[in-house]
Amino acid sequence: MRHFLKETDFSRDEAGQVFALARRFKQERGRHERPLAGQTWAMIFAKSSTRTRVSFEVGIHELGGNPLFLNTNDIQIGRGETIADTAKVLARFVHGLIVRTHAQSDLTVLAAHGGLPVVNALTDFLHPCQIYADAFTAAERWAGPQGDLLASLRGRKVAFLGDTSFNMANSWLLGAGLFGMKIALAGPVEYKPGKEISEMAAQAGGAFQFTTDSREAVAGADIVYTDVWASMGQEGEAAERRRRLLPYQVTGKLFAAAKPDALFMHCLPAHAGEEVAQEVLDHPRCVIFDEAENRLHVQKGILAMLARSRG
Ligand code: CP
Ligand code: NVA
Repeated sequence: MRHFLKETDFSRDEAGQVFALARRFKQERGRHERPLAGQTWAMIFAKSSTRTRVSFEVGIHELGGNPLFLNTNDIQIGRGETIADTAKVLARFVHGLIVRTHAQSDLTVLAAHGGLPVVNALTDFLHPCQIYADAFTAAERWAGPQGDLLASLRGRKVAFLGDTSFNMANSWLLGAGLFGMKIALAGPVEYKPGKEISEMAAQAGGAFQFTTDSREAVAGADIVYTDVWASMGQEGEAAERRRRLLPYQVTGKLFAAAKPDALFMHCLPAHAGEEVAQEVLDHPRCVIFDEAENRLHVQKGILAMLARSRG
């Protein structure tokens, strides 16, 4: 049984297949095959979502399947039923699980007990669907309509600014290794990448640089990326984080210090005036809404790959 819990659950070659499927699904929207016909996929969400929920619901529908949205407050998990029992029960009804939660270990338990493919729709540790969509967004610009999407990423540099210790930074560390990209992260030392992700990134083949100097990180960058300062679950630390992270805001001046054709990216939702200045969100090389749209096409590629591997 194949799962997509982290970027490296697909090989580099398979990531290339996901991108190729995403490109075709985007071109043939409404006319392509329906590999999830007759299937229901449950979406278990313990956190808020706009993009992830909508892109998966629409994507499953477009692949011929039925999405079943389950907020954890409404199912018995919210009242203490174990994750393992929930997985065993759902396996009697549905064909796959898409899960947004806090602990990455919850996904491993679901994957181990359900006998169903599990897709990570964001944990505190990783957000792999977002990184695949972000890399695809850059690649479709760099490779053009016919070019080799994966090859267009090789050797490119990502600069990640702000909270470099949470899901988006972690996922970029794995994604950069998988896609052959360079990555420099800049933030306060209190929020530098942790030991576990640093070891995983090294295994994925990536070397990364951590610095407290934003300018150093963005020098020569092809992508300037940031994320919210207080992620879901960290609302109580918002004031302290704002104080510590303010020097890492992506301002127009900082963005101008990257390569002249660099892209600005953000997973969204964005907070203008905090992690990014409004002038950067309004910049012609800001591609945030393309990233959001590509969640749909790329996730359809991921689901089609998982459906294939089930036979
Ligand atoms: N980028 C992202 O995952 O957005 P949502 O939280 O709205 O799903
Ligand atoms: N780091 C953010 C990402 C939202 C898509 C969070 O976890 O809230």
